[in-house]
Parts: sequence; C-alpha cells; structure tokens
Amino acid sequence: MIITLENAFKDYGSTRVLNVEKLEFNKGIYVVLGSNGSGKSTMLSCVSGINNLSGGSIRYDGKGFDVMVRNSISMLVQKPYLFRKTSYDNIASGLKFKRMDRGEISTRVEKYLHYFDVESLLEKKSSWLSGGERAKIALLRTAVLETEVTLLDEPTAGMDMESSIKAEKLIEDMSSGGRTVIIVTHDIYQAKRIADYVLFMDKGKIIEEGRSDDVLSNPKNPLIKQILNI
Ligand SMILES: Nc1ncnc2c1ncn2[C@@H]1O[C@H](COP(=O)(O)OP(=O)(O)OP(=O)(O)O)[C@@H](O)[C@H]1O
Ligand SMILES: [Mg+2]
Repeated sequence: MIITLENAFKDYGSTRVLNVEKLEFNKGIYVVLGSNGSGKSTMLSCVSGINNLSGGSIRYDGKGFDVMVRNSISMLVQKPYLFRKTSYDNIASGLKFKRMDRGEISTRVEKYLHYFDVESLLEKKSSWLSGGERAKIALLRTAVLETEVTLLDEPTAGMDMESSIKAEKLIEDMSSGGRTVIIVTHDIYQAKRIADYVLFMDKGKIIEEGRSDDVLSNPKNPLIKQILNI
C-alpha cells in the first residue's frame, strides 16, 4: 500500500507537533528517528487512524481512511496495554476480535512463537511478566495479525540485546511479501541493521529522509551529522 502525507499537520493548542509537507511510504522497512517530543508517535498514530490530523491529508493508495484501510493497518503503540489474561490470550486477542476461529488462531500463533523463547510464558498472567517479556508479547500480538502495513512505536524498548536482534528478524519478516513496516526507534544501530529507508524528525518536521545507506552514512542536515558524529 502506498501511503502519502500532504501538508499534514497536528496542533495541540497553539503548538504544531506534526508538520509534514510531503511524505510517501511504500514497501519495505521505514525507520523513524528523532529526539523526544519530535512528533514520531503523533505521526504514527495519525497514519494508523487512531488520531486525527488538524489539517492536510493522508491517502492510502489514493483513497481516504475507510474500513478496508483500517483492516490493512495494525499499530503497536509506545506503551502497549496488555489485558489481564494469559500471554497466549493476549497474543491471540486481535485475532479473536477479528472473529477468526480457535483452530486457525492456534495455528497462526504457533507460527510466530519460534521468534522468541516464550513457550514458558504462554500460560502466565500478563501482570506477572517482566518489562521485556511484555514487549515480546505485545510485538507478537501485532505480528500475528499479518497486516499489509504495520506501525511499531519503539517495539524493542526494554528488550535485552539478544531479544532485540530476534525482534528485528521478526520485523524483517513482517515486511516480506511487499508489505510495509514503519518503526520508531532511538537505537541507531537497529536502524542500520533493518532499515530500507530512514526518516529523521525534528520539531514535527521531516528534516531528512531517504535510503538508509545514504541518510546514515552521508546525511546533509548538520543536526543529524552531529548526532551521527559524521
Ligand atoms: N494529547 C496531547 N496533548 C498535548 N500535547 C501532546 C499530546 N500528545 C502529544 N503531545 C505533544 O506533542 C509532542 C510530540 O509528541 P510525540 O509523542 O509525538 O513525540 P515522540 O517523538 O514520539 O517522542 P518520544 O521519543 O518521547 O516518544 C510532544 O511535545 C508532546 O508533549
Ligand atoms: Mg513516541
């Protein structure tokens, strides 16, 4: 799916927290970088339809947001809420909501368990999980939906290094078959490992974007040069 933003902005009171002139997402992994408060989560929530722009437009294959689009996009929010149920029920919750039958749900969930070593967590109540364990369950809950577009807001925050690498393998697979993943991270090494495209945000604006190799090894913006120590 091709997602285009045009003159898209979001205001809270008199502050413009998102201000994107023109931006296109197509196939592949897009990594969004930028300092705290630069508008990354706001952009993702507007693209996912859980937040509204104050002005401008977001088009999905040239059309507005409708039921078809809603069913094609899933989002893992920055601080995901887990239901007071077992890990398995949490992973399956989105599929249950879509009224998939039990057998199919179990086959689908099974397909994703190997990415992390979470077998022993499946019957545990979510409130007993550690922070990193919660992050894994939340990422799996999003992955099993297999949507065409997936938005991930800091999905590996709280994960140890080995688990983050496993998560990255999963994220790469989530973009396979011509699908789109847009991921926010503060981990520049993660961006280098998985990004096809990189966007840098500052004060609501996209200050640099392009192919990952170009942006990360040869940025034009002085602020990014400084951050990347180039
Ligand atoms: N509901 C709201 N009301 C008022 N201000 C808001 C609201 N939501 C976000 N903001 C402000 O909008 C700005 C952008 O927030 P956003 O969450 O998009 O930043 P971010 O780039 O995701 O930051 P972080 O790296 O800390 O997650 C921040 O200054 C934030 O305080
Ligand atoms: Mg954020």
